[in-house]
Amino acid sequence: MKILHIVGARPNFMKIAPLIAEIKRRPASISQMLVHTGQHYDEAMSDAFFRDLDLPAPDLNLEVGSGTHAETTARVMLAFEPVIVRERPDWTLVVGDVNSTLACALVASKLQFRVAHVEAGLRSFDRRMPEEINRILTDQLSDLLLTPSADADANLLREGIDAWRIVRVGNVMIDTLLAHLDRAQHSTVLETLGLETSEYVVVTLHRPANVDDASTLAGILDALGRIAGELPVIFPAHPRTQLRMTEFGLNAPEGVKIINPLGYLDFLRLWSASKLVLTDSGGLQEETTALGLPCLTLRENTERPVTITEGTNRLTGADPEKIVGEALAALDSASLTEKRIPELWDGRAAERIIDALIARA
Ligand code: UD1
Repeated sequence: MKILHIVGARPNFMKIAPLIAEIKRRPASISQMLVHTGQHYDEAMSDAFFRDLDLPAPDLNLEVGSGTHAETTARVMLAFEPVIVRERPDWTLVVGDVNSTLACALVASKLQFRVAHVEAGLRSFDRRMPEEINRILTDQLSDLLLTPSADADANLLREGIDAWRIVRVGNVMIDTLLAHLDRAQHSTVLETLGLETSEYVVVTLHRPANVDDASTLAGILDALGRIAGELPVIFPAHPRTQLRMTEFGLNAPEGVKIINPLGYLDFLRLWSASKLVLTDSGGLQEETTALGLPCLTLRENTERPVTITEGTNRLTGADPEKIVGEALAALDSASLTEKRIPELWDGRAAERIIDALIARA
């Protein structure tokens, strides 16, 4: 059996790493090939993750780079088509919801190669998010839908997807988190930044809805400045966010330290030792839930509702008053929210995924 893995952007790398490692543990009858589309291409957004996660160098890099949605999607499709025709995989494995995910799923399915989607079924029900469009379409195109939670199964069934195409496998990103917790303790990021455990707040932001509008971004920065009156705020800023701050002439308020994006291990050490996380990322909502650390999500909705119903996540939207109010309340509460880890977020999702691929081969 031959599996073609697709990665494109930062949030893909931690989802594919445990799958590649699991296949290496299986009989040699399974072969694998790693294709990087090059949607994310630089040291901070890509290379650092290959090192930290012990990912093999990609067998192929399509080097599509950044662009508009149509440009990225189209370039990936054009570059990927001859690859899949040549390689003829039994499974094309796509993860998450970035433009590369949809582009490769579309090429594969039209050429009648089977597609498996890891992290299938998540829905924010907000089609203003490009990722929501990517999720819906990728799920419709996929032959095997590997879901992290029961809400995802329900979403897929509601959209008319046959039950036999859905396999609930749990959360593969949590496999990576649990496998790297010990190694992350060797990171010296806290010492480098002069931080003490539980004495600071971590922020990440990159969603267009939060960072592409000057007054929204200014309001969020103002809220972070007020939170920094309580505890220092460390903000590893995505390139998109840094670019917008420069374009809009916005500076970090006092007490808010903006740094470049960190690699996986440094970032894991940083957020896991913090008192509170504020984010608009999808993955970090799940990671904080898995470790029982309070998280405020600066969005109106989430495609990961179990992080709210079972975990430590709360939605604030982008309203500065709401952000500050919720953050101060979270900092005040002495103990962590009771830790409830969602079912099948147990570090063994990759095993179940490879079992499903073999069973359906
Ligand atoms: C993409 C994904 C999003 C994911 C995010 C994580 C889509 C639709 N969006 O959004 O789901 O949460 O990645 O990071 O696929 N840039 C660099 N270096 C890089 C990559 C990008 O400087 O290695 C710059 C680009 O030039 C661009 C900006 O960052 O100016 C945004 O990158 P882009 O890939 O367009 O979208 P993201 O916002 O990262």
